[in-house]
Amino acid sequence: MSVTAKVKKTFFCQSCGAQAAKWVGKCTSCGEWNTYVEEIIQKETKNSRLQIFSSNKNGNVKANASILLNEVGTAEYPRIAVPGKELTRVLGGGIVPGSLVLFGGEPGIGKSTLMLQLALRLKNLKVLYVSGEESEQQIKMRADRIGITTNTCFILQETNTQNIFQQIAEIQPQLVVIDSIQTIHTSYIDSSPGSVSQVRECAAEFLRFAKETNTPVFMIGHITKEGSLAGPKVLEHMVDTVLQFEGDRNHIYRLLRCTKNRFGSTNEMGIYEMNGDGLREVLNPSEILITDRDIPTSGVAIAATLEGNRPMLIETQALVSSAAYGTPQRSSTGFDLRRLSMLLAVLEKRCGFKLGIKDVFINIAGGIRVEDPGIDLALVCGVLSSSEDIPIPQTICFSGEVGLTGEIRPVNKIEQRVSEAEKLGFKKIIISSHNLKGLHKKTFSIEIVPVSKIDEVFSLIFG
Ligand code: TYD
Ligand code: MG
Repeated sequence: MSVTAKVKKTFFCQSCGAQAAKWVGKCTSCGEWNTYVEEIIQKETKNSRLQIFSSNKNGNVKANASILLNEVGTAEYPRIAVPGKELTRVLGGGIVPGSLVLFGGEPGIGKSTLMLQLALRLKNLKVLYVSGEESEQQIKMRADRIGITTNTCFILQETNTQNIFQQIAEIQPQLVVIDSIQTIHTSYIDSSPGSVSQVRECAAEFLRFAKETNTPVFMIGHITKEGSLAGPKVLEHMVDTVLQFEGDRNHIYRLLRCTKNRFGSTNEMGIYEMNGDGLREVLNPSEILITDRDIPTSGVAIAATLEGNRPMLIETQALVSSAAYGTPQRSSTGFDLRRLSMLLAVLEKRCGFKLGIKDVFINIAGGIRVEDPGIDLALVCGVLSSSEDIPIPQTICFSGEVGLTGEIRPVNKIEQRVSEAEKLGFKKIIISSHNLKGLHKKTFSIEIVPVSKIDEVFSLIFG
């Protein structure tokens, strides 16, 4: 063939994926500045695309007929049961056939390990694990480490979507894992793998494949240094479910969160522990996240938090010391720094503690990031405890949100939190007085102490 196609270039916004013929400083679509980059694209010629799916004999895309909503059956495709309670819960009860799942996380956090583990454990399902990052030997070594053998898991080292679809047509897998979407490229676009147009086009191909063959597809995605999924924002719009794997690489705990789910709630969270032989589920997080101490230490307070529907008792640690240099430092691991500043301002204004001249450091045990506002009360008490150097008795835990006026605000699902605290042997739980309504005090043997203002808590604990 001697036809030399004209090289076609377009500008793409790296943030939202919008296209423009010329470079522009500000994206007209998402409003971000300086996000346009030039990419080479080459539009496919008509009918050149490999027609594996979605075409009838004439090469036209098959059309769907409209149907009454009442007549649509739901029981036709039951969810695929997933081994492991954590993943099942986060996915909302199993894998939905034909769903496209994006699985993001920082490098080295364990994305490939979790997906391979899933592929190996689904023993009665034919799984194709496509890797554009590692060789077959490397994957085999990892599988040996995990120590599960199966004869239904196929490995494919390939980066071209057309070749991947050919293999899919041959093997007919019931689940496909793509590791990772940033390394895959389609021949119909000339730009390099990982670029906006490639990522979008490849994801669109997998989306089409998933919907038309009813095969679930998991795509691993990289994360930018800001913490968002690399590639265009449209990627997140396209997929049915977005999972995020997070945690501190220096700690063994990993959190699996769901930030988007068309088939379930996004509140659920799963906890894993990275061991020498892969990821292990943590079914009793509270027992691990609280340290048993012989001597009570100042600055430590236990919070009864809730992630999704799962109550969890977490140890918060605070250290308050005189600022050695002019500007006091505030540092926090696992807690929003701006919220910490707000809590410190409330303490200063409502309780008269001069924290403005102190360094304040906060740490949430286990390298876990907590989003539940019910942790506020424990943090505030930890700060006061460290500041006064008076330890909080180890049998007390806290659950409450702190408002700007210093009031203790109620938290949701208080009964679950209280019963978890009771189960773990706590003697006293301090909650918002507004939470007393609807709480049957008599059913608990743990002492429930209601408070309405932050200064009340202070006199209650420190006398
Ligand atoms: P990996 O799944 O390759 O991360 P990602 O795909 O997200 O980049 O996990 C890599 C890390 O996990 C690596 O630093 C080693 C560690 N690891 C274990 O500690 N135990 C194991 O059994 C495995 C397979 C990995
Ligand atoms: Mg990987």
